[in-house]
Amino acid sequence: MHNDNARKGGHPGGHPGGHPGTIKDVYKDIKDKDSTGEKAQGFMQNKQNQLRLLFWETTAGCNLECIHCRRLDISKKLMESDLNTEESKRLIDNIAETAKCILVLSGGEPLFRPDIFELAEYADSKGLTVALATNGTMVTAEVAKKIVDAKVQRVAISLDGGSPETHDEFRKLKGSYNRAVEGMKHLQALGMSTQINCTIAKHNVHEVEKIYENAVNMGVDALHIFMLVPVGCGVQIEKDQTLDAVTYEKVLNWFYDISKEGKIQTKATCAPHYFRIMRQRAAAEGVEVTPKTHGMAAMTKGCLAGSSICFVSHKGEVFPCGYLPVEAGNIRKTPFKEIWENSQVFETLRDPEQLGGKCGACEYKTVCEGCRARAYYYTDGDYMAEEPYCIYEPPEYQIQQAKEEMKLEE
Ligand SMILES: C[S@@+](CC[C@H](N)C(=O)[O-])C[C@H]1O[C@@H](n2cnc3c(N)ncnc32)[C@H](O)[C@@H]1O
Ligand code: SF4
Ligand code: SF4
Repeated sequence: MHNDNARKGGHPGGHPGGHPGTIKDVYKDIKDKDSTGEKAQGFMQNKQNQLRLLFWETTAGCNLECIHCRRLDISKKLMESDLNTEESKRLIDNIAETAKCILVLSGGEPLFRPDIFELAEYADSKGLTVALATNGTMVTAEVAKKIVDAKVQRVAISLDGGSPETHDEFRKLKGSYNRAVEGMKHLQALGMSTQINCTIAKHNVHEVEKIYENAVNMGVDALHIFMLVPVGCGVQIEKDQTLDAVTYEKVLNWFYDISKEGKIQTKATCAPHYFRIMRQRAAAEGVEVTPKTHGMAAMTKGCLAGSSICFVSHKGEVFPCGYLPVEAGNIRKTPFKEIWENSQVFETLRDPEQLGGKCGACEYKTVCEGCRARAYYYTDGDYMAEEPYCIYEPPEYQIQQAKEEMKLEE
């Protein structure tokens, strides 16, 4: 059986009613849009406060207990405080009024929710492009069919290693790698667009080549790497698992190299300085960064928290992203649109002039911004402080520092 909806675009002949179409359409539109770096930069800045991606923690419940999990509330089953079906539909209505964005049904484990297919279909009917982020262990052939029928456009499955052993150890369930791969196959058999999400940390950094090779061999459409953020359970493993800044830089340079191969779509998440590295590397190669040369990466910037992405928790809290637990409002009290447009937290995050330390003085700040969640954690709450895991020393910052020192000596 073939899923016309997933692969070919459920909305033939364009995007009726403002529906952006499949995730592949969204990528194609961007790549075709224009070929000049200047225009791309303009596009990025003009649309900076337009909501493009909303991650919704549909439940805090999950069958796994991964050692890095960002959840703030941990549960092995659905939680009483999860938004109910009616509240969820109201949220979807309100998101669709705000922007026809991509809605990522995430968690916890979204497949825990018995109404997840109903909600996906409802969101599609409201003009949102629906994606599902799952650990993949519950995707049987029957579930895959339900996902396809619910008009989900892409499924992201987490694979945190190049081998079952590495993944299972991180995700604390033997057999979870093989089950996730099986789930992926069931979806691909129905023509679903698939993506691998992989969190890179010390435990699997030696396997990055293998992770990429596997992704290509599995025929997925995209590989998204996540750099570990110390939030939720991630705080406990921060010392053991966080890559040092130099290794981090090496991984992102490697990621740039594989992205250039163009075998699959690639995206570095929670790794904003990838966008600085991309520009440095392109300049060294004498290549202009444009949608034609660098795809989606040319049209976006590093940290998007609160400017074009946001996160809604299982109990309705609105955060700038899933890793930055600073509440901008709660949809149980205030409509989402109002929070998105008026919250002080978002206003601050949308203003690069408020960045502190070396990020504030950096010439790459509008394309990078540093990870606001990591800044928050390492400063006890200052989410506009400098990114602690970037090796770059902006020349302007060095001048500022030298001036400060001279003042002290006077
Ligand atoms: C929170 S999970 C929810 C979906 C599903 N349960 C799963 O594991 O794929 C979404 C993605 O966030 C990643 N993630 C979780 N905690 C993280 C952390 N502390 N830092 C970086 N990525 C993290 C996961 O590995 C997963 O790929
Ligand atoms: S990362 Fe995903 S699968 Fe792992 S415990 Fe968290 S919600 Fe569950
Ligand atoms: S100093 Fe900050 S803004 Fe500049 S590249 Fe590093 S993380 Fe990005």
